[in-house]
Amino acid sequence: MARKVILDVDPGIDDAMAMCLALTDPEMDVVAVTAVAGNVPAAQATRNVQAIIEQLDPPRWPRLGAASDPDTGLSVDRKSLYGSDGLGDTSFVVAERQHLLPSEKVICDQVRDAPHEVTIVALGPLTNIARAIVRDPELTALIGRIVVMGGTVAGPGNITPAAEFNMYCDAPSAQVVFRSLSTKTLVPLDVTNRVELSYNLFHQLPDESSRVGRLLRALLPPAFRGYRQQFGLEGIHVHDTVTLMSLRHPELFTTKAMAGDVETQGELTLGATVFDRRRVPAWRCNMEVVVDMHKDAVVEAIIRDLNRGPFSAE
Ligand code: RIB
Ligand code: CA
Repeated sequence: MARKVILDVDPGIDDAMAMCLALTDPEMDVVAVTAVAGNVPAAQATRNVQAIIEQLDPPRWPRLGAASDPDTGLSVDRKSLYGSDGLGDTSFVVAERQHLLPSEKVICDQVRDAPHEVTIVALGPLTNIARAIVRDPELTALIGRIVVMGGTVAGPGNITPAAEFNMYCDAPSAQVVFRSLSTKTLVPLDVTNRVELSYNLFHQLPDESSRVGRLLRALLPPAFRGYRQQFGLEGIHVHDTVTLMSLRHPELFTTKAMAGDVETQGELTLGATVFDRRRVPAWRCNMEVVVDMHKDAVVEAIIRDLNRGPFSAE
């Protein structure tokens, strides 16, 4: 039985690769893809979700949710990394679609339709998840699991010295989710930063005969350019793809029960994730945190999974 999944994404080329993997995975039933503001503002994130789904044209289209900017406003973006449109300035044409429901309503509806069965994979700021929890307080007991890409345990941030991007963009929402009684797994930068895909990836991607191959061969060159220009790296991180792999191949990852929270007030530490790692912790454990992985096996799984699925034959 395929696992029911909601992808909450702020595409972002990183998110787009994770969507390619999830939407071609026979063991994942992607019931919804909900847009959230982050790498790009809300309207662009919503448009990008539509563009990616149209490019992939999966056999069964997921419900789509429309993003709206966080209550705190969006003070940062990743246009310097992923292009002004967030998808490498590919400017995909998007069919004008009927009015989309707000992402948080789509999340509430899909969870209510399949209580305890849905895994929410949160690959952007936690705005939608927090709004869904506030909108329907019983939801935390009905969500199967929330898998979150974000935060750091011991390592530095990436958008500030203290904070990882997804947490920083909407720290109050991140705190709502961290403090909720939902079952959570966090995949922090400490782990996802360890995977850096090189240019060799272009020899390993599916070719242009597949929708996944065509989409990724359009999106990845701008991502490599962004990483070289911004970080001087000859490779790219794929934080969201690693996070999806932790769900798809859990045997490759090590998790630990931890107690975590999010700073929402600090001038220098806004968005920092704080974990009680004292010898005798006083905070109650509230999530599983991925603390290690078999990196080479994860990279092999990414390449293998990109080259499978119904789209590869097209
Ligand atoms: O810090 C990395 C995260 O921020 C990734 O999800 C990336 O897509 C951006 O949303
Ligand atoms: Ca993301």
